[in-house]
Amino acid sequence: MLDKAQGLEADEVFLDLEDAVAADAKDQARANAIAALRDGDWSGKTVAVRVNDWSTAWTHRDVVDIVTAVGNRVDCVLLPKAESAHHVAGLDLLLTQVEKAVGLDVGRIGIEVQIESARSLLDIDAIAGASTRTEALVFGPADFMASINMRTLTVGEQPPGYDVGDAYHYALMRILVTARAHDLQAIDGPYLQVRDTAGFRRSAHSAAALGYDGKWVLHPDQIAAGNEVFSPSPEDYDRAEAILAAYDHATSDAGGRRGAVMLGDEMIDEASRKMAVVVAAKGRAAGLDRRGEP
Ligand code: GLV
Ligand code: MG
Repeated sequence: MLDKAQGLEADEVFLDLEDAVAADAKDQARANAIAALRDGDWSGKTVAVRVNDWSTAWTHRDVVDIVTAVGNRVDCVLLPKAESAHHVAGLDLLLTQVEKAVGLDVGRIGIEVQIESARSLLDIDAIAGASTRTEALVFGPADFMASINMRTLTVGEQPPGYDVGDAYHYALMRILVTARAHDLQAIDGPYLQVRDTAGFRRSAHSAAALGYDGKWVLHPDQIAAGNEVFSPSPEDYDRAEAILAAYDHATSDAGGRRGAVMLGDEMIDEASRKMAVVVAAKGRAAGLDRRGEP
């Protein structure tokens, strides 16, 4: 898996030392991750390592061993089960110390924070602001469902009997709003039924529609759907570029310095430009091409 991950079309890969690793295999997993990061070719991807959470005996060893051995290959540390701002601040301090000890640039390694319990959702604002290293808030649906006693075992699907809305909406929206307030990415967590690509697609679509920046994939079969769902459609991308071009012209001297103009049947103004900037940036990042002039 560690070899195969290097060639997959995912934007980011994280190597897991936490819940996918049995307690007795933690040392071996750490050694495997170090060897894979040292010897592999991870170019073109953001690379993260998920360490164990602070309630275990392993977090410090995970950080010290990984950053000492291959800190120059690690873009982010993914912190699970962040229960308070202290968890994030503690990781920041430890990273700073190890970076100094081994001569790495202090502060280059980022932190991605998993929000996956009732407590973390309540303290999310403080958690999000606890370190300047923090780059993303990541929803952890499985642990979150366990934490609130949600009555289902199917992660990412609605609990049977709840038919009046989306049972995840509150958590997803709270994470998204906090992420935007702190200028962080908002990332949706895993969909565990890896053979059910339609289910993955449905779950990814609703996160993308809300405004999430991405979603975890657990299996290569989920990657194509994830990339597609989180890229704008060609129509939306063309429209966004057209809005930017038209608004740029309208507000210029040549266009009469107008702040509100018609583009086709739609009035566009500064808020339209802001929305278009987001869609256009995602489309460009996904390698979409303009199909024609506005
Ligand atoms: C991921 O860590 C999850 O708990 O869903
Ligand atoms: Mg989890």
